[in-house]
Amino acid sequence: MSAKIAINGYGTIGKRVANAVTLQKDMEIIGVTKTRPTYEAWEALRNGFKLFTPAERVPVLEEAGLEVSGTQEELIEEADLVVDCTPGKFGAQMAELYRSKGTKAIYQGGEKHGTAGVSFNAYTCYEQAIGQDHVRVVSCNTTGLARSLYPLHKEGLVRNVLATMIRRSADPGDSKRGPINAIEPSLKVPSHHGPDVLTVIPDIHINTVAVKVPTTIMHMHANAVYLTRDVTPEEVISLWEPYRRLMLIDGFKGMGSTAQVMEMARDLNRPFSDLYEIAIWRDGVHVDHGVLYFFQAVHQESDVIPENVDCIRAMLQIQNDPQTSIDMTDRTMGIWR
Ligand SMILES: NC(=O)c1ccc[n+]([C@@H]2O[C@H](COP(=O)([O-])OP(=O)(O)OC[C@H]3O[C@@H](n4cnc5c(N)ncnc54)[C@H](OP(=O)(O)O)[C@@H]3O)[C@@H](O)[C@H]2O)c1
Repeated sequence: MSAKIAINGYGTIGKRVANAVTLQKDMEIIGVTKTRPTYEAWEALRNGFKLFTPAERVPVLEEAGLEVSGTQEELIEEADLVVDCTPGKFGAQMAELYRSKGTKAIYQGGEKHGTAGVSFNAYTCYEQAIGQDHVRVVSCNTTGLARSLYPLHKEGLVRNVLATMIRRSADPGDSKRGPINAIEPSLKVPSHHGPDVLTVIPDIHINTVAVKVPTTIMHMHANAVYLTRDVTPEEVISLWEPYRRLMLIDGFKGMGSTAQVMEMARDLNRPFSDLYEIAIWRDGVHVDHGVLYFFQAVHQESDVIPENVDCIRAMLQIQNDPQTSIDMTDRTMGIWR
C-alpha cells in the first residue's frame, strides 16, 4: 500500500516534491494546496493533482473556475504525512494544525530547526528521522555544504571549514526580490548557514559568510577546508566520487560558470530542467599549505527534492536503511550513473 502524501503549498519546492513523489512506487500524492488562483493552481490540476485550499478561500478559487476537492484541513487529516512547502516562517504557523490532526509533517529550510526539533540530510543523518513525527529538511545551501563536507568529515580530514556563500538573490520565477544591481553582504557572521550545518553534522567546525548577487539560477560556494593531514586533490575527488548527489564537472570542458552548468542540466531532460546534484569543479580543487579549496554550485530549487523523498520514507518507516532509500530515490529521479 502506498503512503498518502499531501503537499501544503504548491510553489517552487511544492510542485517539485509532488512530481518526485509521483515517481515513487511506495507513496502517492492525494492532494496539493493553493490559496490563490494563480497559474500554478491550473498547472496542479493539469498534472492530475487534486486541489485543496483553506475553507475561507474555497469561493475565491471556485469563482476563478478551479475545481476544488476540499479544504486544506480535510486534506491534512486524510494524509499520512504532509510536506509543508509554504513560504519561509509559514511552516511554523502551520505546525499547530498538523499537530492537531495528528499528521506527520516535513518542513523546509525556511523554518528554524526548532519548528520540528529534528533536521534531515539523507547522507549525514537519515537515521535520526526514522519514525519521527516532525522533521525539517535543511535549506538548499545547507544541503549543499552537508553533501560535500560529509565524505571529508567521515574520513577525519576536516579541522575547520570557512565557506563563502555567493547566493542567488531570487528564484527565476520571482520578479519582486533583489538586489538587481548590487552585491549585498550578510553582516552577521557567521551567516545562518554555518550553525545550520551543525543540525545535520553536529561535530564539525564550520564558519560561513554570505553575500547576495544579482543572479537567479544557482548559488555558488567557495570553500576552504583546513585539513587534519595532507591530501592530494585526487584523493579528495576519489572520496566524493561514490556519492551520486555530488557531480564532478570540468571547467576545461567549457563549464566555466553557473550558466553552463544549468545549460548542461537542461540537456539532461529532467522535469523543470533541474539539477539535483551539487556540482563541484574537479579542476577547481586545490590543496595548499594544509588547506583544501574548492568551488561548488547549488541549484537552489531542486537539490532538496530527493532529500524530501528520503525523509518521507524515514519518517513513515517505509525504509529504515538509508542507502536503500537513497538508491530508490536516485534511480527513479534519474540521479544514476
Ligand atoms: N526556492 C528555493 O530556492 C528554496 C530552496 C530550498 C528551500 N526552500 C524553502 O522551501 C519553502 C517554500 O519555498 P518556495 O520557494 O517553494 O516558496 P514559493 O515558491 O513562494 O511557494 C510557496 C507556496 O505556498 C503557498 N502558500 C502560501 N501561503 C499558504 C498557506 N497559508 N497555505 C497553503 N499554501 C500557502 C503559495 O501559494 P499561494 O500563492 O496560492 O498562496 C505558494 O504556492 C520555504 O521554507 C523556503 O525557504 C526554498
